[in-house]
Order: sequence, then structure tokens, then C-alpha cells
Amino acid sequence: MRVLVTGGAGFIGANFVLRTLATRPDATLRVLDKLTYAANPETLARVADRVELVQGDVADAGLVDRLVAESDLVVHFAAESHNDNSLADPSAFVQTNLVGTYTLLEAVRRHGVRYHHISTDEVYGDLELDDPARFTEQTAYNPSSPYSSTKAGSDLLVRAWVRSFGVRATISNCSNNYGPYQHIEKFIPRQITNVLSGIRPKLYGDGRNIRDWIHVDDHNDAVWRIIDKGQIGETYLIGADGEVDNRTVVETILELLGQRADAFDFVTDRPGHDRRYAIDSTRLRTELGWQPRYLDFRSGLSATIDWYRDNAAWWQPGKESVEANYAVTERVTG
Ligand code: NAD
Ligand code: TYD
Repeated sequence: MRVLVTGGAGFIGANFVLRTLATRPDATLRVLDKLTYAANPETLARVADRVELVQGDVADAGLVDRLVAESDLVVHFAAESHNDNSLADPSAFVQTNLVGTYTLLEAVRRHGVRYHHISTDEVYGDLELDDPARFTEQTAYNPSSPYSSTKAGSDLLVRAWVRSFGVRATISNCSNNYGPYQHIEKFIPRQITNVLSGIRPKLYGDGRNIRDWIHVDDHNDAVWRIIDKGQIGETYLIGADGEVDNRTVVETILELLGQRADAFDFVTDRPGHDRRYAIDSTRLRTELGWQPRYLDFRSGLSATIDWYRDNAAWWQPGKESVEANYAVTERVTG
């Protein structure tokens, strides 16, 4: 099977490539990635003999048409993915997440190629901290940020291309991922690499916002399960019952790294900051038989800390500029 993986030099896409190489000997992999600031080509360097990396834009219709024509399956991870950046400048989010997805959909439509669309639970907006509800496939879309609204728009394009043009597509909406190779602008790797660099972790607002953490390998196994067994035109939510508040995450990182649990700073909150995300993944579990393997967040986090400690050469070159970027707007509040 010839698989085109867009965004395969980023966090989740690269883990998908590495895991697919290990588990699916029938797959031939090609990556289409623009190699934006979020990509690290180092991640795929050790498998360069087994994966072709094409540097290019998912919104480049000519290039996309050629690559899709030569594929049996497209798995679309490429996106502008960071909420904070989307608040500073939404333009790349509209271009890549909306126009890029449209460009891919037109190509898979022309060539009759199977398509899987990677999306986020953030399309559903947020939940109150004390609300027992969780997101399901029936929850109404209500995105908050330029990031989540462009992801929501891209999901809706996929649904329309299925219904109007018979495109063979599935969609998955997953909760927050953690694991190796995640860009250090994101919450967990930022705080791990802060502590490893002698910088105090930074918590937005009151630190009580909740995210529903899932290990990236559990996400990618679910993606393959949906590709193999999912119903065309359907949406599946992916989550591993991993609700934890941000303050607890930071305290656990500090403790695992042998620091005092209160050695962090509160900083200015993110505008429009979603309070809580929580996924009900019953459909994926009952209809497709998927189960997460990383059931203990603390030990998954510990392994992730070990990975960043052992792979400083992967992240250290970018650390100063990421922190300088945050420092432009971030103020310590407590
Ligand atoms: P990432 O930012 O780490 O990687 C994105 C990759 O896409 C990078 O390699 C980048 O170079 C590439 N890219 C960006 N614009 C491109 C373009 N125009 N053309 C081609 N390539 C381009 O993101 P991630 O965290 O790995 O997220 C991957 C996907 O998973 C995204 O669609 C995101 O919305 C979704 N998702 C992420 C999470 C999470 O917790 N990180 C959770 C649920 C869903
Ligand atoms: P993030 O990794 O940006 O993911 P998302 O916005 O997609 O959920 O942030 C995860 C949570 O951590 C979110 O509630 C914002 C918060 N956060 C901090 O408290 N401090 C930080 O330095 C960052 C980057 C995020």
C-alpha cells in the first residue's frame, strides 16, 4: 500500500511514520511536508532510506495532484497546530488548514484515493470544569480560536466532499497528545525542557485548565484502526480517559525531575483559553475494538521526560528562540 503522509516531519505525523515502519511491512511511505518551523527533519533522518521526504506545501495543487495520483491512501496530518501562534497571526492557519485541506480533497476526489483526516477535539469548544459531560461524535461544533476554527472548517470540508462527491474519507478528532518529538513550544515539552534548562515552568492563568492527555502511539494506533475498519464518511473521537489539570502536570514534571513541586510561575493567561476538554471514545472502542495501551499518565510522562533528557541535541538549538518568542507577551503574575 502506497501511503502519502502529510505533515510527516512534525510531531504526530513523524511518530505515525516511525510506528508504521515498525508495524506495517506492507506500507510504502512518502511524506509531504513544507518543513515549517514546527518540523524537525532530524526526526526522519534515521529512516531516510525507507521513507521519501518531499518538501512542499499541501496547498500546492500541482504537486499534490502528482503525489496523490501515485498513492493508495492519504493520511493528512499537516497543519498549523499551535493555538498561541494562531492568536498572534491567523493567516497561515487559514491557508494551510483550510486551503491545504481543500487542495488535498480535490486531488483525492479526482484520483479516487482513500483519505483519512486528522483533527482535534478542540473543534467542539470547551466544557466547564464541574460539568460531567464529555465530547461525543454528536457534540455540536463550537470552536474558540483561529486554530480550532480552521480545523473545524477543514472537517466540514471533508464531510461535504464525502456527501457531494463520494470521496472515501474518514475523520478522527483526538485529544491532546504527548510523547517524543513534540515541538517545545507545546505545554508538556516546554515545561520539561524548561526544567532541564534551569528555567521555571510557566502556567497560564490559574493553572486549573484541564486537558485529556493521550500518548501519541495510542493516537496513531487508533488512526490505523479507523483506516482498516472505520466506516467511510464517519467520524471517530480518540481519547484515553486522561483528564489532568495543567498545574498537576507541572507539579508531576517537577517532582519526576527532583525539584520542589511549587518551583513554577503563573503567567498571563491565553486570550479565550479553553477551560476543559474531555473525550468519550466509546464509539471507537465498541465499534472498532480499539483500546489505549498507555493507561498510566505518570509513567508515560516519565518516559517522555527521559526522552527529552536523552535527546537534548534534538531540541536544544531551538530553545532560546522559543522562549524569546513567549517572553514578548508573557508576564509573571504569581
Ligand atoms: P506539528 O505542528 O508538530 O506538525 C505539523 C507538520 O505539518 C510540520 O511538520 C509542518 O512542517 C507541516 N506543515 C505545516 N504547514 C504545512 C503545509 N502548508 N504543507 C505541508 N506541510 C505543512 O503538529 P502535530 O502536533 O503533529 O499535529 C498534527 C495534526 O494532528 C494536526 O492536524 C493537528 O491539528 C492534529 N492534532 C494535534 C493534537 C496535538 O495534541 N498535538 C491533537 C489532536 C489533533
Ligand atoms: P498546548 O500544548 O498549547 O495545547 P492546546 O492549546 O492545544 O490545549 O497547551 C496545553 C494547555 O497548557 C493549555 O491549557 C494551555 C496551557 N499552557 C500553559 O499553561 N503554559 C504554557 O507554557 C503552554 C505552552 C500552555
